[in-house]
Amino acid sequence: MPARVIRVNPTEPEAEAIAEAARAIRRGELVVFPTETVYGLGADGTNPAAVARIFQAKGRPPDNPLILHVAAPEDVGPWVGITLSPSARELRGKANDFSAPAGRLAIGGNNAAGLGELARRLMDLFWPGPLTLILPRSSRVPDLVTAGLDTVAVRMPAHPVALALLRAAQVPIAAPSANLSGRPSPTTAAHVLADLGSAVALILDGGSTAVGLESTVLDLTVHPPVILRPGAVTREELEAVLGPVRQWPELAGRTGRRDGDLPAGEREPGPLSLEGGEAGPARSPGLKYRHYAPLAPLYLVQDPAKLLELARQKKARGKFVGILASEENAGLYAGEGFLVLVTGSRQRLSEVAARLYTLLRAFDEAGVDLILAETYPATGVGAAIMNRLWRAAEGRILE
Ligand code: TXA
Ligand code: MG
Repeated sequence: MPARVIRVNPTEPEAEAIAEAARAIRRGELVVFPTETVYGLGADGTNPAAVARIFQAKGRPPDNPLILHVAAPEDVGPWVGITLSPSARELRGKANDFSAPAGRLAIGGNNAAGLGELARRLMDLFWPGPLTLILPRSSRVPDLVTAGLDTVAVRMPAHPVALALLRAAQVPIAAPSANLSGRPSPTTAAHVLADLGSAVALILDGGSTAVGLESTVLDLTVHPPVILRPGAVTREELEAVLGPVRQWPELAGRTGRRDGDLPAGEREPGPLSLEGGEAGPARSPGLKYRHYAPLAPLYLVQDPAKLLELARQKKARGKFVGILASEENAGLYAGEGFLVLVTGSRQRLSEVAARLYTLLRAFDEAGVDLILAETYPATGVGAAIMNRLWRAAEGRILE
């Protein structure tokens, strides 16, 4: 049965629509809802049967855990294995005081209090918003949600529709991005329909999502904290609060290929692991899965002049070339029969982030033979953009 799509006002969602969606959640059904990052495929996070339906609908491997979404920091308490500080206490200058040995924080040990303060401080500063925190779990979280890990991911989204739904449902909502596994995360209800149209009961359509890339995932259970997935809350912003934070090296594993010729076959992506060894093995199971890869191979090309040269070569060999261009360089590629899609201005990387997934889907629909994509500076939200592009390129970078 095709999903029922209800259009909702994204800033002041209609109470009736929210009530209906909340009832569906409480009945154990799947409800798709907009967040400020991407659309989520939600189910009652306290109901294992409902959570199992998420994995089924997405074709998601069962060892990849889900984020629990909450309506307020106060709602996190029952699901984590630490005590959060009660309020936005004045902790200036204390953020880095908790003396943890390198490696895993002892859960329930002396560091738990420091962790509770840190978590609360980050919630006060960045919630509601695109920051997911990995914390020790409590025994009340279904194992399916955490994929059996001893940690749980929690996030309070900023979208009015998501918040209204969470308040009405009165349960934490477990929700991955509402795409089929291996497809780009959906930033519109149309993307959701294309991927999951017949697998979900209800889609709340609140228009395009603002951020366009998934939330920053920050693991607070290791010291120093590790960004497992860069997003719109940037490393720079987190370091201003936490001191040094490590980040998954989105450009590690680059090929270093300099001959400018495209590799003949598909290259195996290198192993995805965290830099260094202190944090132990990759702690986000999501990191080990092959993420979205366009149907056509995508190559990152740092130099626009080189990109143009490659595009001409490929076209001369009869290829339909897609180019993912910034506004500043788009003119360079115009009028030569390439499919040029424009991400936005290099001066406004948040625009680039917001459009990225829509454009990658558009290349698939147009049936290009290959995609040549410009690169962006990997600072600020650029780190999130380059992380997703690098994954889509599966390591194919030409300098
Ligand atoms: O912006 C977002 O985060 C969106 C919206 C819907 O909130 N959700 C989202 O969920 O992107 P998902 O499931 O597509 O990505 C969650 C990521 C995965 O990489 C998963 O492995 C990781 O978070 N994750 C979840 N729980 C974890 C845990 N306990 N430890 C480490 N990583 C975890
Ligand atoms: Mg996802």
